[in-house]
Amino acid sequence: MGLIKECIEDKKTDINPIWIMRQAGRYLPEFRRIRKQHPDFIRLCLNKKIVPEITLQPLKRFNFDAAIIFSDILMLPYALGQEVKFTKGLGPLLGKLNFKRIKKIKKADFIEKLKPVYKSIKVVSNDKILKKKDLFGFIGAPWTVFLYMKNRKSPKEFKKNNYIFHNKNERELFRTIIDFLKIHIKEQVNNGASIIQIFDSWAGLLNNEKNKDDLLYKPTKELVKFTKRLGVPVVCFPRGIKDYKTYCKKINPDAINIDYQVDPKKILKQIHIPVQGGLDPKILFGDKYQIKKEAIKYLEIFRDHPYIFNLGHGILPKTKVESVKYLVNLVKDFK
Ligand code: CP3
Repeated sequence: MGLIKECIEDKKTDINPIWIMRQAGRYLPEFRRIRKQHPDFIRLCLNKKIVPEITLQPLKRFNFDAAIIFSDILMLPYALGQEVKFTKGLGPLLGKLNFKRIKKIKKADFIEKLKPVYKSIKVVSNDKILKKKDLFGFIGAPWTVFLYMKNRKSPKEFKKNNYIFHNKNERELFRTIIDFLKIHIKEQVNNGASIIQIFDSWAGLLNNEKNKDDLLYKPTKELVKFTKRLGVPVVCFPRGIKDYKTYCKKINPDAINIDYQVDPKKILKQIHIPVQGGLDPKILFGDKYQIKKEAIKYLEIFRDHPYIFNLGHGILPKTKVESVKYLVNLVKDFK
């Protein structure tokens, strides 16, 4: 069993496990070289030869305790037939929604479209570098996936509103997303993902109780239950929410990833399940002294609590490789 699973299941480890969100890609020069030769991001995610290589790149450099499959939460809209493009500087751009076509998608066609992802998971899970380490599969939470599909780009300027479904089509789409996310989780697990992480990057936009019940708590809980029944642990990352205590109570994940805006001391008092993450990714732009000070803060606070070291959001593209190396060694040497 890997250190991360041990931390989640046995609620203890002598050394803190560590991995980093978005560890594959972005800041690694060996990734950028590959990316230059493959301008179409979706096609790159479907490349069975290269995806295992990119996924394992960070583990070749650093003593991480897990790999995360190189893919994207937007592979779901892609597999549902919505066009997804990544344009430099603009982030993802999605094509027009065709509700009628989405309604007709069959399970077998969906799986067929994502088959290369599942094959890559299989290859990575069998690599000897992952012996005693975990492989994260992942999905975007229903709300975040729905928002990208509807908004067709990152919802940066999306008003913090009390979202309501505007019509029957939207309501049905939300249900369809949940159903296909289950299929996506199951295929990842069947092919060797040993933990599932649910990224709810826009959970913080939901700000009334009815909305939270319908769009955050109920659908996420359904997926957490589903994943647990498959026999693998599930980690949730509801970025930007204010009340992690209620979230954990309602959803009951195996571990919770906290974002960098929450006070870890408050979380320690409120939450009784293993915690992952927290460190502000910008700290890695600082010098060794600053990195050490902030990292030790988290390690000290969670000294007697099952804690998986990670960041409070994805690693930033300009992060230096040496800073990551320094951080990993620091976490591993912490006594
Ligand atoms: O963690 C990993 O290294 C595994 C791969 C992974 C990617 N995206 C690869 C990727 C994971 C786990 C994700 C999750 C993801 N994707 C989220 C949730 C986490 C979060 O950051 O909130 C979201 C919201 C997305 C959607 C997405 N994909 C956006 C907004 C962008 C563009 C901006 C960006 O983050 O770089 C992407 C593209 C993307 N996904 C890249 C990578 C390596 C960059 C592609 C490029 O090189 O242009």
